[in-house]
Amino acid sequence: MGSPDHFNQRVMVTPISTKRVEDVKSDALNTLLHISDLDSLDEWRVQYLGRKGQLTQLLRGLSSAPENDRAQIGAAANIAKTVLEEQLRLREADLKAEHLSGVVDRERIDVTLPGLPVPEGKLHPTTRMVREITTAFASMGFQIEEGPEIEYERYNFDMLNIPSDHPARDMWDTLWIDQARPDGYRPLLLRTHTSPMQARVMENIDPPVRVVVPGKCYRYEATDSTHEWHFYQVEGLAVGEGITFADLKGTLYEFARRIFGEDRKIRFRCDFFPFVEPGVDMSISNFKDKDGNRPINRDEDWIEILGAGMVHPKVLEGVGYDPDRYTGFAFGMGVERIAMLKYGIDDIRLFYSNNTQFISQF
Ligand code: DAH
Repeated sequence: MGSPDHFNQRVMVTPISTKRVEDVKSDALNTLLHISDLDSLDEWRVQYLGRKGQLTQLLRGLSSAPENDRAQIGAAANIAKTVLEEQLRLREADLKAEHLSGVVDRERIDVTLPGLPVPEGKLHPTTRMVREITTAFASMGFQIEEGPEIEYERYNFDMLNIPSDHPARDMWDTLWIDQARPDGYRPLLLRTHTSPMQARVMENIDPPVRVVVPGKCYRYEATDSTHEWHFYQVEGLAVGEGITFADLKGTLYEFARRIFGEDRKIRFRCDFFPFVEPGVDMSISNFKDKDGNRPINRDEDWIEILGAGMVHPKVLEGVGYDPDRYTGFAFGMGVERIAMLKYGIDDIRLFYSNNTQFISQF
């Protein structure tokens, strides 16, 4: 087979015979056995049955066969053609069915698989803390009130026994919205605490009063890990006949246990706030347990959490309550500070940094 025609052998006109027809047929059927996809099947069809296919070529060459053999060869070729076409149809049907069941397999839905987690929104830790604190007081009979963040100087200071010439004003670095004017216009500020709501509430209702007031406050202050220029407080006020310091202690003790746990002890020390007399600050216990661990991760036995006291007679008078008949206690706490202690957060600036990674931990 050294002739240069070797490579063209397939297109050479091969003498036609029944044997040749049979060869092409069995060759075709053999090849078909190995075909496993629809594309190859189509190639196979072109190769044997197509216009230039092997069998078609044979039939075309029928005229070159000896006249006596023609009928026989022609019949064989027609049978071969019918057989191949039939096999093609069957194989095609099989492959299509296989393909379909593959698709079904691949796309089958396993309803027993666990679902994909749906991203879940979270409440901001401040919101959660505000709700925890107010819920604790609500269950002790306190109502929840809210008040304006833009406040009159009168409520923020004067009615709380902090006149403008009093040095106690220095305790609150204030963001003023405008200044006093000679025409008696009352200047506005961003409230520095929630205490002004004490006066607003008492002006509006007669005793007995039991309210807690959560809300945002502002101070003209440089920020650091324990100071923000805006933050939340919860104010509390209880006024009625015969309310004593023992009521203050009992109420705040119960609150501390609910927020920080059953074993919590509390301690009061004298402190000064112009709107209470006596005034105190309250701390919660943080002693080491037998393994040397503290409930709150801070190297202190007592941790200050709020200011409180018995409502100053001048404040009661200012809102038209008779200080000889009514007494009461008030308290105020920083919400972020309580959340920091409870959740072990060491920088108050994290609360308002828009850091969703931080927020989503709670
Ligand atoms: N308003 C005070 C502050 O912002 C906190 C406070 C202290 C509130 C004593 C009170 C209180 O009601 O009795 O520093």
